[in-house]
Amino acid sequence: MSEHPVVRINDLSKKFNRDLKRSFTSGIRTLLGAAFREDPSQLKAGEFWALKNIDLELKKGESLGLVGVNGSGKTTLLRLIAGVINPTSGTIETRGKIAPMLALGAGFEPSLSGSQNIYLNMSLLGMTTDEIRARYDEVIDFAEIGESIDAPLGTYSTGMRMRLGFACAVHTDPQLLIVDEVLAVGDANFRVKCRNKINDIRKGGASLILVSHSRLSIEYLTDRAIYLRKGQVLAEGDSKSVLDVYEIDQAKATAEKLSGRNKAKASTTSVDTGKKITIDHVRLLDKAGYEIDEIFPGEDLTVEVTVTAFEDVDECALNIMFKPVVEPMVYHPSSTRDELGWVQITRGTHIMRMKFDPVIFLPGLYSIRVNISQGSLMDILSQVEEGSVRILRPEGKIIRSQFIPPLRIDLAGLAVTALDAEDMDFEGAEDL
Ligand SMILES: Nc1ncnc2c1ncn2[C@@H]1O[C@H](COP(=O)(O)OP(=O)(O)OP(=O)(O)O)[C@@H](O)[C@H]1O
Ligand SMILES: [Mg+2]
Repeated sequence: MSEHPVVRINDLSKKFNRDLKRSFTSGIRTLLGAAFREDPSQLKAGEFWALKNIDLELKKGESLGLVGVNGSGKTTLLRLIAGVINPTSGTIETRGKIAPMLALGAGFEPSLSGSQNIYLNMSLLGMTTDEIRARYDEVIDFAEIGESIDAPLGTYSTGMRMRLGFACAVHTDPQLLIVDEVLAVGDANFRVKCRNKINDIRKGGASLILVSHSRLSIEYLTDRAIYLRKGQVLAEGDSKSVLDVYEIDQAKATAEKLSGRNKAKASTTSVDTGKKITIDHVRLLDKAGYEIDEIFPGEDLTVEVTVTAFEDVDECALNIMFKPVVEPMVYHPSSTRDELGWVQITRGTHIMRMKFDPVIFLPGLYSIRVNISQGSLMDILSQVEEGSVRILRPEGKIIRSQFIPPLRIDLAGLAVTALDAEDMDFEGAEDL
């Protein structure tokens, strides 16, 4: 006997109106329905398809990731599945209890205490008072709210509210868990706890739909993924291959955006702007010195920066920023780390290099920003955002850890002066 799917979506479309006022009147018209005899498949002024012709089936125990850039329709799809909004056309069938984690703190009342809110929130999610009482201690334990559980929710920090919202939702024994980005908020420990809890719920046979901009979360928690663009399904399949398609698309878009920005910049020459230094060129090189834009973890990477100084400039630092395109985290090595000291960039053109031998970043796509800063306040003398590097995933290996790779800095023979470490404030170093 084949089991009924937990979610079955058939030719689902949802349109919105960009204009709030129109959106309100069209909502009323939809309610009045046939009286207006309007064709819902037609778009009127200001309307657009937030989702178009979506088909989807989710079986018991299956776990699905949704990826796509901002505004691609992910939250809209989750809200439709959770029944918060209605489709313009098409059908959605769901089976069993759904625990939606869409907007944090939805279903909370600020004037009530944390404890009262647990009862309110969990009853909205379909639990009886006895059921809630039985799980109450577990919820409090998970949320780690402590003494504040009797204080009004309005006095809670965003993090505390989030913990409580998550704790309530995951303790309702849902058959389907719908999670929108929640894992990106909160401290690292709580994120790990959320991930583990979601995994436990899945092991218990529940299904999951997860929206996340984190490659790691999608890969770790979902078997299958859908890539949405402008409300349509662009790719569907196992999570890894869908993420790859998404990332390659992102890489293309980033490269186009960056080349546009650099072209715009090139029209103002450095001398005209009175700059002391310009970064002329940035290249990424492999061990053999060939230019590359992809590399496996464990291989050597050199970032080569060609710099021209129009006068002698003291107290410089060469800084590089590896900014993951889909993960909210940055790695930024600097020549003043590793206690190399200030660089005196003398008048003329120099080729400086930072070698990562080997590269040990998490697989993913990183945009690269390079700057030369001066002094302990790090005045930026010149900055470029040039290109991106894709750290590839070795076949059959799972890489989940990240640490600072050994760094060798080649300052093109330029003089280095001592650095007063007290002066340096490496803000963001804790990102590493
Ligand atoms: N109630 C609404 N009225 C009008 N437009 C809306 C409404 N809700 C969402 N939209 C629009 O629909 C599109 C899809 O939005 P949605 O929130 O689903 O995107 P998303 O993929 O979740 O994006 P993000 O990654 O930023 O969370 C966007 O253009 C958004 O502005
Ligand atoms: Mg969203």
